[in-house]
Order: sequence, then structure tokens, then C-alpha cells
Amino acid sequence: MLLVLHAKIPTVKREDQTPTFWVRDVPIYGDAILAPMAGYSDVTYRAVCQAHGSAMNYTEFVASEALLGEPNPHWRRLDCKKDEYPVVFQIFGNDAQKLLAAAQRIEEWEPHIIDINMGCSVEKVSGRGAGVGMMTQPKLVAETFSLLSKHLSVPVTGKIRLGWDDTQRNYLEIARIMEENGASLIAMHGRTKEQRYHFKADWDAIAELKQAVSVPVIGNGDIRTPDDIRRMKAHTGCDAVMIGRGAVGNPWLFSYRERATLTRAEIAATIRLHLQEMLDYYEYPDGMIKFHRHLRRYFKGLPLKPLLNRLIATNDLAEFDDLLNELAPPA
Ligand SMILES: Cc1cc2nc3c(=O)[nH]c(=O)nc-3n(C[C@H](O)[C@H](O)[C@H](O)COP(=O)(O)O)c2cc1C
Repeated sequence: MLLVLHAKIPTVKREDQTPTFWVRDVPIYGDAILAPMAGYSDVTYRAVCQAHGSAMNYTEFVASEALLGEPNPHWRRLDCKKDEYPVVFQIFGNDAQKLLAAAQRIEEWEPHIIDINMGCSVEKVSGRGAGVGMMTQPKLVAETFSLLSKHLSVPVTGKIRLGWDDTQRNYLEIARIMEENGASLIAMHGRTKEQRYHFKADWDAIAELKQAVSVPVIGNGDIRTPDDIRRMKAHTGCDAVMIGRGAVGNPWLFSYRERATLTRAEIAATIRLHLQEMLDYYEYPDGMIKFHRHLRRYFKGLPLKPLLNRLIATNDLAEFDDLLNELAPPA
């Protein structure tokens, strides 16, 4: 039934490279990283992005409470592949003891790093003091990082924003607290909670953060092109950049490829690889249906709307494969 949708993602070899930076004792190879994105950075898209050069594999975030009870569908967000490196499990919550209990449970599943989400702006998360809501509670931040870094054997990291709003841009205070209490890396999205995804990300603030702490800093916000990666690195001095929305439908960004230089054959090949990953993991037809959100982004900028519509309209893999040949005939 899969016809030519049988391509496999190549395993990335890194042992003979020099690390770009270290997260405590975990070497990182590369400076462009797929951002954690609920609904996108699942095990399938992480595999695609790692193959294109993404240097770390952050999972979608999971609530600490969901990890404490019986197995449930949220746990699937922490599924990962044997050759993923490094795996960063991201969790969120508003209670240090529960975050510790959840982290201790998932540490048994052998991630390389555990990350605390302190950036989620969604009301039902931040409004209860989790996600970016943690940034309004410096004591909770101190307690969480102190407990986790003391009781876990893997490095503990955090992803923050600038703060709650323009009157509370407390990223330097929070970052220092994190570092003092054992955080091994800080990733920062250069917007406040109130800004959500609007306005320009503040790269000056990322530069300021990099100066203020001695742990590695990952800069995040508004990267769409290879030149943006270079510009953010030069502007901020950050150790690596993290790419969210700009990487959906464009995993080539992790190898500094310009979207406009891609051939249609390369795009078709990656679509096949990604769809195969999704079919393997979610099975048919779920994998195909879930793939549509990515497919739309792979077609971004191509003058092929009618073909995209026909691809989305079919649930038949053989027909999908034939249609894809219209994007690029098989080699
Ligand atoms: C659909 C979506 C889901 C996201 N889910 C998460 C998440 O689970 N954990 C997290 O730390 N950030 C999450 N984010 C925020 C991104 O990691 C990133 O910080 C943000 O998109 C800004 O980067 P960008 O300008 O490159 O998109 C999400 C963003 C989007 C758009």
C-alpha cells in the first residue's frame, strides 16, 4: 500500500565532530535547533529536522500532573527514537515538588536533558502560574531548579520569555536565579507573555542575557532564513538559535539552506520521508491526516495551490504518491 513511500531517515553521525557547546556534560553538535512546539515537534518531525541538522531534540511540553498518574495519551509526547540525540524532555507545572516527582519518573526513560517550560503564554497554563507564569514567582523558580538539579542526574535547563509584560521584563533576574540554582542552559524567546507571538522579538535582550550568565544561551524568535540565523548569532553572541514557526515546512533551515535554492525533487523527497515517518508512527489514516498541517507548509511559496488541494483531498496513498510525482517526477 505504501508504494514508493518507503524512504528512511538517515542516522546522523556526530562522534567525530567537535562539540559546538556543552550542556553541562552533554555535548551539542550544531547551532540551530528545532523549537519545542506542541502539535509539531513530535518524534516524526524531530527525526526529519535532526536529519537536516537540528542539534537538539526538544519534545512537546507535558504537564507534570499528567506524568504523575496512570499512563495516558500525554505520555506519547515523550516518545522518542533510539538514535535521537540529545533528547530534551520538556515539562511544565506550578509546583516544585510535583515537577520534581514528574522529572524523576521520566528520568527513568533516559532523556539526555530535562527542560522546564517557563515560556508558555496560553492562558490556561500561564494563568495558573505555570509556563511563563513561573516568571512571576522567583521563589518557585529557585525552588524548582534547586530541587531538580540536586535530585536528577541529567542536566536541567529552562526556556523563558522576557517576562510577563513590558512592565515586568525580569528575564535577567530569573536567569540569574536559574543559574544560581543549577540550571545548565537557558533558552529565551525574545517576547513577553503579553506580546505572545506579535511584534518583533527583542534580540538586544538575548544579547544582554548572554552577557549576564555563564551557562549556554539559546536565542529564539523571528528566525526564518539562514541569514537570520547568522544575524542572531552575530547580534547576540548566543551559543545556538532555536527555530519554531520558521522551521515548519522548512527543515532545510537547519543546514543553512535557502528555501529558494531547493529543487522540487528535494522538497518531494522530504515530503515522502516525513509522511512515511508519520505513517509508521501514527498509522494509516491518522498519520496521513495529521500530515496535512505540515504539507501546507512544505508547499509555501510554490505556485501549486491546485496540486496541494488535490493532495489534501485524497486519503488514498497510491493517489497521493501519483500526485506527488507532479511536484517532481521520480528520479
Ligand atoms: C504551535 C506552537 C506550539 C508551541 N509549543 C511550545 C511548547 O510545547 N513548548 C515551548 O517551550 N514552546 C512552545 N512554543 C513556542 C516556540 O517554542 C517558540 O518559542 C516560539 O514559536 C517563538 O519562536 P519562532 O519565532 O521561531 O516561532 C510553541 C509555539 C507554537 C507556534
